[in-house]
Amino acid sequence: MSATTAPIEGDIETYLSAHQRKSLLRFITCGSVDDGKSTLIGRLLYETKALLEDQLSALEGDSRKFGTQGDDLDFALLVDGLSAEREQGITIDVAYRFFATERRKFIVADTPGHEQYTRNMVTGASTADLAVILIDARKGVLTQTRRHSYLVSLLGIRHVVLAVNKLDMVGWSREVFDAIEREYREFAAKLGISHIVGIPLSALRGDNITAPSANTPWYLGPNLLHYLENVKVDTTRETGPLRMPVQWVNRPNLDFRGFSGRILGGRLQPGDAVRVLPGGRQSTVTRIVTFDGDLAEAQAGQSVTVTLADEIDVSRGDVICAADDPAGLADQFEITLVWMADEPMLPGRPYLIKLGASTVGASFGQPKYVVDVNSLDHLAAKTLHLNDIGVCNLTLDHAVAFDPYGENRDMGSFIVIDRFTNRTVGGGMLHFALRRSQNIHWQAVDVDKQARARQNGHKPCVLWLTGLSGSGKSTIANIVERQLHALGARTYLLDGDNVRHGLSKDLGFTDADRVENIRRIGEVAKLMVDAGLIVITAFISPFRSERRLARSMVEAGEFIEIFVDTPLSVVEQRDPKGLYKKARRGELRNFTGVDSPYETPETPELHIETLKGTPESAAATIVEYLTGRGVVRNAG
Ligand code: ADX
Repeated sequence: MSATTAPIEGDIETYLSAHQRKSLLRFITCGSVDDGKSTLIGRLLYETKALLEDQLSALEGDSRKFGTQGDDLDFALLVDGLSAEREQGITIDVAYRFFATERRKFIVADTPGHEQYTRNMVTGASTADLAVILIDARKGVLTQTRRHSYLVSLLGIRHVVLAVNKLDMVGWSREVFDAIEREYREFAAKLGISHIVGIPLSALRGDNITAPSANTPWYLGPNLLHYLENVKVDTTRETGPLRMPVQWVNRPNLDFRGFSGRILGGRLQPGDAVRVLPGGRQSTVTRIVTFDGDLAEAQAGQSVTVTLADEIDVSRGDVICAADDPAGLADQFEITLVWMADEPMLPGRPYLIKLGASTVGASFGQPKYVVDVNSLDHLAAKTLHLNDIGVCNLTLDHAVAFDPYGENRDMGSFIVIDRFTNRTVGGGMLHFALRRSQNIHWQAVDVDKQARARQNGHKPCVLWLTGLSGSGKSTIANIVERQLHALGARTYLLDGDNVRHGLSKDLGFTDADRVENIRRIGEVAKLMVDAGLIVITAFISPFRSERRLARSMVEAGEFIEIFVDTPLSVVEQRDPKGLYKKARRGELRNFTGVDSPYETPETPELHIETLKGTPESAAATIVEYLTGRGVVRNAG
């Protein structure tokens, strides 16, 4: 998740180098514009003199234009104006702002605060040490406050400032402030947020922002800036073991081979022994190269290029680790998943995840539970919807180097990418590797697929028929099997209706259940191909994603996708089982073509337009395709 900070790193570094010796506090503000979030950030920037003179004069003009009264500058205008530029071209809208005082430098992540913008918050919070949670004193603790606090605790933030804003609107009432603070502490205690400081504020008027306010004589705690300047947060990133994912291999000529990336944990010096995962090979650091010359030492947060003493094989996505304390290596995990897309997460569907510098194929199991952010109860769920936070298992296509999120936030968090749209649809944290991922290995067997195929006298493959219900898949499949059988081929027909009486009898027709149905068929077909058979499947298999998954389970050339194309109007007319009528009457839900989608194959190996022929001619086309490719030999 930290990758999204990259485009603006340049400015940060220039700015911060002027404040080199000061400690850095990264924090996030949670709340909505209505709560006064932009006003608060604007006020902090203004008070710390981070505003440029010309921005200030523009602000005075705008405030007048929008009719703000008296001397109160409208800080919200300033911050919202700045973020509008940033939001363009950044998929996740997080604006980072920088300011410094005599004591400390600060990076604040400003995230849009509407309910549906969970993902912005997760992104902003993933590098923060502290969260300022804003509450409008007139509204008190809201569902949104609870959701944000839950995410804050999930993301490992242990320090919260409860900024009770707009206290001027409730007559600076101590009772109101105390009641809000009490309610919040009660909730936060269940989340394990250990450090909470409540501060009564008026961001608009500047009360308790940088100096004690005369309006709250009953409040004896620190003002906001004073607290932010002095709070001690732990910086385990620098003290943990070395972790550096390789972003690219830098090889300008034959004499130089460096590995570039950002250090996500620990420190690095020439002479350090390192181990490169997943391969596990060891070497020693020889140089730490940067634009401004070699370094004697680098630490978490810095981007560097290192060279190693030995010519070992290192590629993009590998992780350079401390030799005596390397990251773990696994392909199955228990995780917390935060879902950020309108389309729900479908267990078993293939997604991509980006973890460190590697991008890996992945799928999720059915949620063990989702969390009700108000009560913190665990609720049963089959999928995750927009903004849901759940716990489930994650399976990757191959093992990756990782640390549990609790030990290293950067090495233990990932984002989820949709394979078709390339959009970020979720984010998550690794709890631990499942032990089975270390204990189940491929069993090598002596009689293999090739041996079985030789004995059968034909190549194994999957004939994957897809199309609407009633399109003729089963009829065609049946004729194809008869003809292949006559040619001496060993076959097996997996048919939708039949499989749903056994292997998939626990599944219905929701998107999630169809995904699982096809995943199972894919696995069974794969085993049968391994057994040397020609497998014929006749399932609607309406989703591209799962057809592609089934394809990926067998070798190239072994998957023959056959689109049995009969128009909806025709199958609806035929309606052999009366199901379309039922569906139209609303007695059958999620019926393909009626109220559940069918995604047409884009590049099937065979496209059979059934209206242009008969089931027999369709079958003949398929068998010819197989003989033409030498899968089976023609009779005689
Ligand atoms: S798939 O979507 O998971 O591939 P599958 O091919 O197994 O579906 O099952 C389709 C058969 O189930 C249809 O031919 C039809 O007889 C029956 N069926 C019952 N309910 C539905 C429904 N809601 N949508 C589609 N088919 C249904």
